[in-house]
Amino acid sequence: MTQAEAGFEACAETLADHFRHFTVASLVGITPERFEEALNSHLGVVDAEGEGYGAGDLDRQRDLSIKFHWGHDHDFGAFRLEGRMRRRHIDVLARFASLFGVASETYTGRQVLDVGCWCGGTTLMLARLGASVTAIEEVRKYARMARFLVDAFGLADVANVQAMSLYECNRPEFLRRFDRVVMPGVVYHLSDPVLGLRLMFNALLPGGDILVESMGVDRDEPVCVFEGSRRSHSGSREDLDRGGWNWFVPSPLALERMLLEAGFVDVQSVWEPRSGRVYAYATKREEVGICRAGLSMPSVP
Ligand SMILES: C[S@@+](CC[C@H](N)C(=O)[O-])C[C@H]1O[C@@H](n2cnc3c(N)ncnc32)[C@H](O)[C@@H]1O
Repeated sequence: MTQAEAGFEACAETLADHFRHFTVASLVGITPERFEEALNSHLGVVDAEGEGYGAGDLDRQRDLSIKFHWGHDHDFGAFRLEGRMRRRHIDVLARFASLFGVASETYTGRQVLDVGCWCGGTTLMLARLGASVTAIEEVRKYARMARFLVDAFGLADVANVQAMSLYECNRPEFLRRFDRVVMPGVVYHLSDPVLGLRLMFNALLPGGDILVESMGVDRDEPVCVFEGSRRSHSGSREDLDRGGWNWFVPSPLALERMLLEAGFVDVQSVWEPRSGRVYAYATKREEVGICRAGLSMPSVP
């Protein structure tokens, strides 16, 4: 095993240990039975209306937005749930540590924005590492579940979950507020990734940093593969529904250039072969402008 891989494994084990705190033994103000019942009552529930989808556009929406799928693997002690994201809440943070030296301790006492939190696996982890977390999630049912977990584990003072899109982060309360943005698995879901990264830049305090992980293409050129909502891998209706939510899938150099466009400096963006994903780290040194030509929100600061 290489030294880098040993570093990743060690960090992943430490993070997994932190996450083991979140069993039914740590619940606050709710019985384990009631807690399990509440979780089970959400699994597999189909709810398009609650997400704001009308009959007319239903067939264009992704399955994951309409039907409740559990997010991250979680052993609650009395029972366990397997998630669509498996153990990304552990592995992605461990990769940021091994690739860019972002150690667990660097989250402690910091204001962290967790973007696209699904059911909150990463949110819980960040709170456990001592961060003050604001988590945002555009799918309302997942945001509700993340909030439920935060409350059930007595973390409401340090973690706040909001059902909202990243594109709504131009609200005043998101401007220049965070020390760190954690953004794994989201940038390729954005129809305007440069704008999305700009909003994250604006959400950071000068001196803050951003951690981005993305589906990607292993190419040296600054290219993106366009997937779009009609992309299907097998051609089945189910696969079409599931797959229809990736827009621009970047190479490491494309992601690096997007981050530079958004105003970031000290950008590192690499292909990570074990996961087959792109990882990037960048900092906000100071307020700088952005090229406004073609931005989908030209008034963005
Ligand atoms: C691939 S999952 C990644 C989940 C988690 N961040 C992780 O890395 O394991 C992407 C999540 O981001 C959410 N998402 C996608 N676009 C979003 C947006 N514009 N604003 C907020 N959340 C978004 C999705 O609903 C989904 O929960």
